[in-house]
Amino acid sequence: MSTKKEIIFSGIQPSGNLHLGNYLGAIQQWVDMQKRLSPEDTLIFCIVDLHAITVYQDPKILRQKIREVAAMYLACGIDPKNAHIFVQSENPDHTYLSWVLDCVVPYGQMLRMTQFKDKSQKQQEGTTVGLFNYPALMAADILLYDTTTVPVGEDQKQHIELTRDVAEKFNSMYGETFVLPKDQIDTSAARIMSLQNPLSKMSKSDADPFGSIYLLDEPDEMIKKLKRAVTDSGSAVSSENLSPALTNLISIFGKVTNRSFEQVLKTCEGLSYGAFKTQLGEAVVAKFEPIQKKYRALLEESGELDRILDQGCAAVSVYSSAKIQVVKERVGLGR
Ligand code: TYM
Repeated sequence: MSTKKEIIFSGIQPSGNLHLGNYLGAIQQWVDMQKRLSPEDTLIFCIVDLHAITVYQDPKILRQKIREVAAMYLACGIDPKNAHIFVQSENPDHTYLSWVLDCVVPYGQMLRMTQFKDKSQKQQEGTTVGLFNYPALMAADILLYDTTTVPVGEDQKQHIELTRDVAEKFNSMYGETFVLPKDQIDTSAARIMSLQNPLSKMSKSDADPFGSIYLLDEPDEMIKKLKRAVTDSGSAVSSENLSPALTNLISIFGKVTNRSFEQVLKTCEGLSYGAFKTQLGEAVVAKFEPIQKKYRALLEESGELDRILDQGCAAVSVYSSAKIQVVKERVGLGR
């Protein structure tokens, strides 16, 4: 990490089961950043439950998922001694700033958000205003803390561009208030694709259970899913003929074994698809079995998770409430 003070913010929606894409595209980067942290830097990881309800969530399941995502952050290696972990809805500053930003961001720019276009097509008449305003809430999450860096997967890039634009516009309307953040995307895991359709991204809302490896899948389920993963009409790994499906599997193999794409390709060259997928399955299980063990222990330890989330929220509220005071003054809100 550079000598300049960094403020790192990111989050995941508790809207389903976390999958390999969430881990490789986001959480693994967070853990790596934590290792390189200097004492002046700040790490903030949020469970973005207000974003989750932009699409209907069963209330009982949502409550459960919030805890599960928090426990998964910890099990994957986020250490509350280094990072603030908190639940978005527990800090009302996020919704406050979100409204103010709604009044700054141009409607036309929101209409161009590709994630809204995709999701609203799936939701049809069920599409809510919340789903439309989603990127303004995400901008609020980021801008409240003077965030400098947002580690995410590629699908969030456009939202971070919008965040910069809103910050710039607010600053020019009301005076310097917000820091312009940049995204951080790990190009080797920016877009992990479905195991069943290499042209569509691995996603929490995929109806096909064989498309995604969930971090809490049983080991034999992980192996079964990888064995069933689509490849192409060939029969052995060959660098001459890399299909999108095979490229995706090699990227996953590289990420879970800390090797580059080229290193994996070199060692797997000539392996039959069957043998390759067996090795990949073993590597994925070896990576996630210890994480699953830690995760279960954390959920059983009564009180510890709540203590961490309470402390996280108290700590971040100190930053965000000061920022809200500045925003109120700049905009002329209240007395
Ligand atoms: P969410 O919950 O959809 O995804 C969480 C993180 O996982 C990444 N990701 C992927 N990376 C690679 N390949 C994939 N197939 C894949 N699928 C998901 C996402 O890019 C993301 O980094 N809007 C955000 C949550 C959010 C947020 C924020 C993030 C709300 N406020 C502020 C950063 C900063 C989202 O829906 O993520």
